Amino acid sequence: MVNYKDLGLVNTRDIFAKAIKGGYAIPAYNFNNMEQMQAIIQACVETKSPVILQVSKGARQYADKFILRNLARGAVEYAHELGCDIPIVLHLDHGPNFEVAKDCIDNGFSSVMIDGSSLPYEENIALTKQVVDYAHKFDVTVEAELGVLAGVEDEVSAAESHYTKPEEVVDFTRKTGCDSLAISIGTSHGRCKFTPEQCTRNADGILIPPPLAFDVLAEIEKQLPGFPIVLHGSSSVPIQYVKMIEQYGGKIPDSVGIPEEQLRKAAKSAVCKINIDSDGRLAMTAIVRKVLAENPGEFDPRKYLGPARDELKKMYMHKNIDVLGSAGHALD
Ligand code: G3H
Ligand code: 13P
Ligand code: ZN
Repeated sequence: MVNYKDLGLVNTRDIFAKAIKGGYAIPAYNFNNMEQMQAIIQACVETKSPVILQVSKGARQYADKFILRNLARGAVEYAHELGCDIPIVLHLDHGPNFEVAKDCIDNGFSSVMIDGSSLPYEENIALTKQVVDYAHKFDVTVEAELGVLAGVEDEVSAAESHYTKPEEVVDFTRKTGCDSLAISIGTSHGRCKFTPEQCTRNADGILIPPPLAFDVLAEIEKQLPGFPIVLHGSSSVPIQYVKMIEQYGGKIPDSVGIPEEQLRKAAKSAVCKINIDSDGRLAMTAIVRKVLAENPGEFDPRKYLGPARDELKKMYMHKNIDVLGSAGHALD
């Protein structure tokens, strides 16, 4: 058993309370390897932002849970070495069942998500409560989800999203005791968040998505004043990375994300955690493709992973400063 406090990590309780009060959101960036972790920590130290390092079930399978835990421990030391002890959370993203959540809690995670959103309401409550009861013994915080996001959610995939029903949130949070709630208001996972038919096109042919359901968010806030709300599927799918990937041989048609101004608006509300994974994948892929296309003789991974890491850092800094507003809040 390894407790997160021994790794220098924090849970989400205090940082969420401060984020809601301060009108900003904490970035939750997914990572699977050293370069992603370094980019996240460099960006968050330089912008003085708290951060949630997110690990999916797929990441655990890819990188090994012990390696990821030690990367998170390394992240704490790395931040210190870079000159700012920013709050760092190690969080399980889309925990699929009690066993995986427990294994994370027993192995240094300071926060877990239990994703029962595909279950019938009462079963979601029962599963979430089981995880909360275990997690709280170790002061680990728990994110739950109500409502369904379109796209792939771990191994569950849904063609359509179902917005969170505001009339359920009080009952759900009271019965489960969860610490934060992921809701569905029109975001979705991956690089194609809307079909072209759901979008309009601007004069340059760029897809413009429909707006998020801010009325549903407002109603949820009214029902649960001051309760931490989480937005998944919040990549913006930056057009420059989509273009770069296609310029250097990739094919990623119909890519469309959540416009930054909508995330900025959400971050000012009770939304205090914003999940971003796909944008990191796009930035990394764009730069790796460019470097390899321009340097066909290159075969040293440091020569393409290094520039990819630099680009990731730049992108995360931009998000912290210009979108989530978390910059400058590490030492609140
Ligand atoms: O919500 C899903 C995250 O983007 C993680 O994706 O399961 O492929 O690691 P993954
Ligand atoms: P994106 O696919 O929009 O980056 O969402 C990531 C996410 O929600 C991880 O849980
Ligand atoms: Zn998600």
